[in-house]
Amino acid sequence: MVTFPTLRPRRLRTNKVIRDLVAQTTLNVSQLVLPIFVKENINEPEKIDSMPDVFRYPPNEHLIKFVEQSYSLGIKSFILFGIPSYKDDFASSAYAKDGIIQRSLRLLRQTFGDKILLIADECTDEYTSHGHCGIVVNKNGKALVDNDESLEVHARIALSQAEAGADIIAPSSMMDGVVGAIRRTLDENGFKDISIMSYSVKYASTFYSPFRDAAYSKPAFGDRRGYQMDPRNSYEAIKEAHLDVEEGADILMVKPAHTYLDVIRIVKENFPEYPLAAYHVSGEYSMIKAAALNGWIDEKTAVLEITTAIRRAGADIILTYYAPKIAEWIKEGV
Ligand code: PBG
Repeated sequence: MVTFPTLRPRRLRTNKVIRDLVAQTTLNVSQLVLPIFVKENINEPEKIDSMPDVFRYPPNEHLIKFVEQSYSLGIKSFILFGIPSYKDDFASSAYAKDGIIQRSLRLLRQTFGDKILLIADECTDEYTSHGHCGIVVNKNGKALVDNDESLEVHARIALSQAEAGADIIAPSSMMDGVVGAIRRTLDENGFKDISIMSYSVKYASTFYSPFRDAAYSKPAFGDRRGYQMDPRNSYEAIKEAHLDVEEGADILMVKPAHTYLDVIRIVKENFPEYPLAAYHVSGEYSMIKAAALNGWIDEKTAVLEITTAIRRAGADIILTYYAPKIAEWIKEGV
């Protein structure tokens, strides 16, 4: 006997109004963070081949205009990545008073005051000749990224970013103890109110490769698997997040996002009291872009579905190069 369906889930899908009424997940522009590349010694925005529609900006009126346009769409949070004009073994251009990040932070702070939130990515890879996220030492004829030797330079970079006006420091090096080292240095120097958004759960991912083209930060030797997480592990995320919480992180992050929805869920469920960010990274951006440019998928619906999925998995905040587009689409009414 066929049972007549008395329960009909379709009743709640009959039109857009009722679908919106019962929708579990929301996507608001206030939850988006826009990454921006700033580069020394250019005067005009520069195209990035591996990331169509994304540019490197000089710290001048072009950067201001881009932030202004984004702000007018409702985007108020920005994370800055610096591309310096010189690199050395110790990342000295990352903490220089007139470094590219420091100048950009000061310019944006002067121009926009507290209307915008400025997040500084804290790492050494864009600033070192070897392109690694710490200090490289030679041990028994083998070059390796020394964890404890690296902590001081990370803390020093973070301090210079705070002095230049960053609201939030975002350490992305995956060095053990880096959050604690930064927290201590900020506190000792009168920056108790500067938050730390830690790239707590960052995987050794191939999806960063367009970013490394954009920021010229490909490692000169080896890879990052000695410090970034192994994609085969999910519960290790709890260990990493736990350490960062103990060391004083205010916001946690999982990166990449779309490829790691299960990890986002695990971190959110284990640390529900901490805001969780997810970074929809360069490769995840460029894959959608490439398919859209070929007419193989509809960009708007694809991006909104993926971004909503990242929220549904448990992320409160999404860092995405698509932020301006998403903001436009939300404005149009989706
Ligand atoms: C390190 C850093 C990277 C990204 C953000 N911070 C590069 C890396 O770990 O190789 C990647 C972001 C992206 O792919 O969009 N400074």
